[in-house]
Amino acid sequence: MNNIDSINHVTGKSVYLDDILIQKGTLHAVVFGSSIAHGKITHLDISKAEELLGVEKILTYKDVTGQNQIGGIIEDEPLFAEHEVHFQGQPIALIVAKDEHTARKAITLIDIKFEEFEVVIDPRIAKEKGLLLIPPRTFRIGDIKNAWSKCDYISEGRVDSGGQEHLYIETQGAYAYPIDNGSIKIHSSTQGPTAVQKTASKVLGIPMNRIEVDVARLGGGFGGKEDQASGFAAMAALASYILQRPVKLSLHRLDDMKMTGKRHPYSSDYKIGLSKDLKIIAFQTTLYQNGGAAADLSPAIMERTLFHSTNAYYIPNTEVTTYSCKTNLPPNTAFRGFGAPQGMFVIESAIARAANELGIPTRTIQEKNFLTENDEFQYGQIAKSVNIGNCFSTASRLFNIEKIDNDIKKFNQENSLLKKGMAIMPICFGISFTNTSMNQARALVHIYQDGSIGISTGAIEMGQGVNTKMAQVAAKVFSINIKRIKLESTNTSRVANTSPTAASSGADLNGNAVLIACNELLKRLKESAAKILECSIDEIKLQDEQVLKNGQVTELSWEKLIIKSYLSRICLSENGHYATPIIHFDKSKEKGHPFAYHVYGTAIVTITLDCLRGTYEVDNVQIVHDFGNSINPTIDKGQIEGAVVQGIGWMTMEEISFNKDGRLLSNSLSTYKVPDIYSAPKAIECHALETVGPELAILKSKAVGEPPFMYGIGAFFAIQNAIETFNPNYKLDFDAPLTPEKVLMRLYEKNV
Ligand code: MTE
Ligand code: HPA
Ligand code: MOS
Repeated sequence: MNNIDSINHVTGKSVYLDDILIQKGTLHAVVFGSSIAHGKITHLDISKAEELLGVEKILTYKDVTGQNQIGGIIEDEPLFAEHEVHFQGQPIALIVAKDEHTARKAITLIDIKFEEFEVVIDPRIAKEKGLLLIPPRTFRIGDIKNAWSKCDYISEGRVDSGGQEHLYIETQGAYAYPIDNGSIKIHSSTQGPTAVQKTASKVLGIPMNRIEVDVARLGGGFGGKEDQASGFAAMAALASYILQRPVKLSLHRLDDMKMTGKRHPYSSDYKIGLSKDLKIIAFQTTLYQNGGAAADLSPAIMERTLFHSTNAYYIPNTEVTTYSCKTNLPPNTAFRGFGAPQGMFVIESAIARAANELGIPTRTIQEKNFLTENDEFQYGQIAKSVNIGNCFSTASRLFNIEKIDNDIKKFNQENSLLKKGMAIMPICFGISFTNTSMNQARALVHIYQDGSIGISTGAIEMGQGVNTKMAQVAAKVFSINIKRIKLESTNTSRVANTSPTAASSGADLNGNAVLIACNELLKRLKESAAKILECSIDEIKLQDEQVLKNGQVTELSWEKLIIKSYLSRICLSENGHYATPIIHFDKSKEKGHPFAYHVYGTAIVTITLDCLRGTYEVDNVQIVHDFGNSINPTIDKGQIEGAVVQGIGWMTMEEISFNKDGRLLSNSLSTYKVPDIYSAPKAIECHALETVGPELAILKSKAVGEPPFMYGIGAFFAIQNAIETFNPNYKLDFDAPLTPEKVLMRLYEKNV
């Protein structure tokens, strides 16, 4: 089963925000953002700009008809800056004009003066100054204080990881226009239509039922549109509401890069203790999350860092503390992995250094400490159906790790300026929103008189193929051709109170809602068929577009059944509601059972390093991944490949840089390098582990969106491994991304 959208995508027929035919009289909006990162607005004169021919209105905080305060978790962020600015690019005003060009021209006529304040961009400095977004949190298990004395070997260090620009192909934007009854309709490029609806409702000061949000699809989100689409949509809606005109806002790439938050950079200290037989006895880490100027999703992201800080290992004595630090950067936000990659990089670094100091391969320690059945995570959940050991041993056997090792040794002996390196990256990722209440979804299924079906869910299609999976679920229940099924746009008037499509749980949550609705309809249709065929319901089966009676094909086709059921006045619409059972979490104890299940896998990453230039190529990423019983291997494989490349990008080349004044230097694609086809691995081999899959996954097909991102972390260690081979003086350090520049420095580092 291919992706139902692929033909329209590649032929350019799929409609994205910028393709929506605009109404006559549509105005265009451009955001005016702060030129400094921290300070007081001492003077703001928009009169000249407003006088420019073609400028309709310039909105500031004074024009907000409802509340100016926004923020998904904590309302700590102004939609438009009032008296102070806290990051470069922070929205101050919205220029609404007849076209974008005029709006941009008007910006140059705005007269603004600031009194500049001290800029903090380093999370450790922020922590020292007491600048925290929320109080710190600690997860613990065992007795860390008394554990150190039981360790034969202790190692300590510091780990840093950088931010990451989402670089969704479609930038942030919204198109809003007035509809009947004083309502506003918003087309938004968002992962969270309800978040947009709620934010717009607050900003405009009108109830949620007067805001209709509609999303056909996104040109990528990757977490960047879970929360941050809301502000821009609210701006377009506000302008439209005040002017009673259609207003379109679509960020220029440079504005998008400057104004929106990214993956959180983290800086961490750790201490790890092992026994003689290489069991990890104790692990303690403190992580400083660079949150940016407002909370955004940082509290939830720091929570997932805590959950995943021991990755796929069982460590009996663990203590992890995170600080969410307030800095003068754009509020950092969700990005594939949601804080987990940053935490996993720390434990993997700790293991790599310990192995290096002990003079053994990293995988010897990894292998001895994998989670096993019924181990307890530091958050209290008991690990079930643990597959990490199986993934690792299958990968070792299938890809012949000894041979890889020997080939690398041989290559490295024969080559003086090229060195190969290898690393193993195991993953364990919990599926469910860590905030239990968000784990719910609804689906509205209509069967039309001709037997075609329309499905609305709360899921957002952003390239990950969730719509195809929803259609597959319905087609399977009714046993009909998938061509009969259409996925409608995601619309808050059809499906209300949606959770964002995030946490890799879009297909699980919405798919289960579809399943529930379809099963209910199937029950009704079987009853109807039993009546028509004068038999009992148990004798009826729907198969391949036919009604079977006692296993025999009848004259009742799918289409006949539907029209006859309609004429008998049977309801052919159903609303399904799903809430993940079992899960719970008690924040006061930091214990519970937050995840429906975990996804496991292991990647072997091999690279070749050019020791003259510091450049490298990823030769192969060989994966054994636990998909459960994949509902769509083609899509899932695509998710693996995309995530691996994105993960490698984060670890090796994507370097976000701000100067000390908080100005984004890597503000375009000429200064920010994302992986292209040349830097993608030469091969990605993905083998599916044979498992039945968990009950709580949609049709036992495990969530796949985020977990494989973490395989990319292996590229860091594989490159490091090659540097070590070339330069025996190199002292291991953990400062990602490991760009070619940094590699070159380390290749020629002298023993000091
Ligand atoms: N794949 C594509 N093509 N585009 C995206 O924006 N987002 C990722 C992942 N895969 C993304 C993607 C992220 S961050 C998440 S959480 C999941 O998809 C969300 O979709 P799902 O819950 O349906 O897996
Ligand atoms: N993952 C992703 N997005 C989220 C989560 C989560 O656990 N919680 C809130 N938004
Ligand atoms: Mo994904 S970071 O949960 O949108």
